[in-house]
Amino acid sequence: MNQSEQRVFSGVQPTGNLHLGNYLGAIVKFVELQETHNCIYCVVDLHAITVPQKPEELRSSIREVAAAFIGAGVDPCKHIVFNQSQVAEHAELGWVLNCVARIGWLNRMTQFKEKAGKDRENASVGLYTYPTLMAADILLYKATHVPVGDDQKQHLELARDVAQKFNNDFAQSIAALGYGEVFFPQPEPLIQGPATRVMSLRDGAKKMSKSDPSDYSRINLTDTPEAIAQKVRKAKTDPEPLPSEVDGLSGRAEADNLVGIYAALSGSTKPDVLRDFGGSTFSRFKEALVQLAVARLTPVSSEMRRLQADPGYLDQVLRDGASRARAIAAENMVAVKDVVGFLR
Ligand code: TYM
Repeated sequence: MNQSEQRVFSGVQPTGNLHLGNYLGAIVKFVELQETHNCIYCVVDLHAITVPQKPEELRSSIREVAAAFIGAGVDPCKHIVFNQSQVAEHAELGWVLNCVARIGWLNRMTQFKEKAGKDRENASVGLYTYPTLMAADILLYKATHVPVGDDQKQHLELARDVAQKFNNDFAQSIAALGYGEVFFPQPEPLIQGPATRVMSLRDGAKKMSKSDPSDYSRINLTDTPEAIAQKVRKAKTDPEPLPSEVDGLSGRAEADNLVGIYAALSGSTKPDVLRDFGGSTFSRFKEALVQLAVARLTPVSSEMRRLQADPGYLDQVLRDGASRARAIAAENMVAVKDVVGFLR
């Protein structure tokens, strides 16, 4: 398959507090892939409501994610930026895939267990079937590549299993309709680079997350330079200087995390960073990290602020993106219905 036939799809939930993990794990990759692929980037609002959301905040978070995509450098004219609920085929294919996926597969999903916590009986049904909707997002566009952070790996594996089972379950119908053997291609996860799992600045064993009660655990994309500096300076470390080799980071989760963040922000690798900073104290390294983080993030946050001040523009971008996404989605959904045996 040549690159022009490859299609990138990815999504970000509009649940507030977009942070450095979202940026380095996903959004930076979205920007890079635009050079080589046709890309579709989605604000996954249907996923957001798997846990309670306030309608007014949800509307503003949807615009915030769209602003982050564009502010970071995604071009919504050359590629597609839209919100999931405006393309009804996501929910429609999600239902069909609920009937393909097995309960045993969903029972193994670690994110459901983490998010539902101890009170599983009280979690929404949507939270449980979240991964099949995510599979629908990807397969609806027959996407071939999906840039995500490491925490989405298991969901991507499920999407691949769902694609394969659909192809097997309906093999005869797929062949009879002239689609050959493969109706849904197997989507490839793209989980690469030094920051696929950015950790909390307060605890190197915990992922940086939107829902962490401590704002000092994460750098938000909307943080001011002063806030970024304060959070980096207060980030947990250990008393040793930085090692000169990557092996020396093992067992030093916080140091490893900061080195990974520096590498990702500077477009280099952990060995490169340690070549420059091996033997340095954390206070020196943190000052360099503050400068780098502020230089990289300030243009994004000021562009986000500018865009968010014009919600009419963002809504128009999303509507336009939805109509272009719908054109692809509708065609593929008609084919799915034929394969399954629904009447037109
Ligand atoms: P969400 O909204 O939780 O996160 C958006 C993206 O950010 C990545 N990410 C991280 N990467 C590195 N370090 C971190 N600490 C970190 N935290 C989050 C996530 O891996 C993700 O790539 N289920 C998805 C949204 C989704 C989706 C899709 C993604 C729905 N449908 C289809 C791809 C394709 C999610 O909850 O992302």
